[in-house]
Amino acid sequence: MTLDAQILSALRHAGADGIGAATLALRIRQDSAVVTQHVSQLRDLGYEIESTPHFGFRLVSVPDLLHADDLVSRLSPHRIVGRDIQVFQQTSSTNDVVEKMARDGVAEGVVVFAESQTKGRGRLGRRWISPAGQGLWFSVLLRPKLPPASVTQLTIATATAVARAIRTQTELTPQIKWPNDILVRGKKVAGILTELSAELDQVRYVVIGIGVDVNVNDFPPELAGVATSLASEAGRHFVRAEIAAAILHELDVDYARIKRGEFTALAEEWEQHCITLGRRVQIHIGERTMSGRAESLDNDGALLLRTDHGHLERIVGGDVTIEK
Ligand code: BTN
Repeated sequence: MTLDAQILSALRHAGADGIGAATLALRIRQDSAVVTQHVSQLRDLGYEIESTPHFGFRLVSVPDLLHADDLVSRLSPHRIVGRDIQVFQQTSSTNDVVEKMARDGVAEGVVVFAESQTKGRGRLGRRWISPAGQGLWFSVLLRPKLPPASVTQLTIATATAVARAIRTQTELTPQIKWPNDILVRGKKVAGILTELSAELDQVRYVVIGIGVDVNVNDFPPELAGVATSLASEAGRHFVRAEIAAAILHELDVDYARIKRGEFTALAEEWEQHCITLGRRVQIHIGERTMSGRAESLDNDGALLLRTDHGHLERIVGGDVTIEK
């Protein structure tokens, strides 16, 4: 952990009690001049750190910016997801940055955030609007020992983790639309883009891109009816780092569940929040449209659709419309 991360972590643990300057110096194994210098740099970034002779240092408020040290200081030391966190002011797409890292052999767990993306992309070649400072646009590198057909398990795990994090951090009740949309009151607040590189029987790496409209307030007209943000739905602004850290924590928990072979239990949790199962749906895959009833998930996370002709079709992708 960097010194900034250690200081923020110590301040956060101390809470309203604050932490004495000498104790803080001892905790980070530096002299008090180094502590003063780092506290002053954090203040310059917008961290409001009070210092009084009685309480020592106390963290009063944090700015709404993404700072790798801040994110690290909010996470458990034994994590895989978020093992290394990097924050860019602007990128084309965080999935591209992480994909390059994957090709260069970087270990799994690295996470790349961008304050804004110039070429953010969604599923099915769609554009993903990523305005600066208003949302979470990030990608995670994983190297699971899974066959390519089971990668949908990771999308299901990510959707479950994102939904759980939103539930614990806001008063909202997120719903999941198979495979990867997170909705609040029927409008989309977050999406997941899973991209992979694989050999025939084994995944090389998976890049999971996550976009969360946290404080976005202006959507282009074509999205206004279908997209919303956490802030619009809850009627208050959120500190993005809090939501980001919660998602990384929950994703770390769910990735561990997948690695332990506990997909079935995870899928049960996913099903409780899913609005697709049991409904009549239309699924558009390229030029093809299929209609039927979304019955269940299979062991790989694929959707089992009972078509109008009575066949059970296994669906791994496509655009799902839920019939009214
Ligand atoms: C979708 O719902 O279609 C998926 C949206 C995924 C958006 C995220 S934002 C971070 C990452 N980088 C991208 O270019 N896309 C994903």
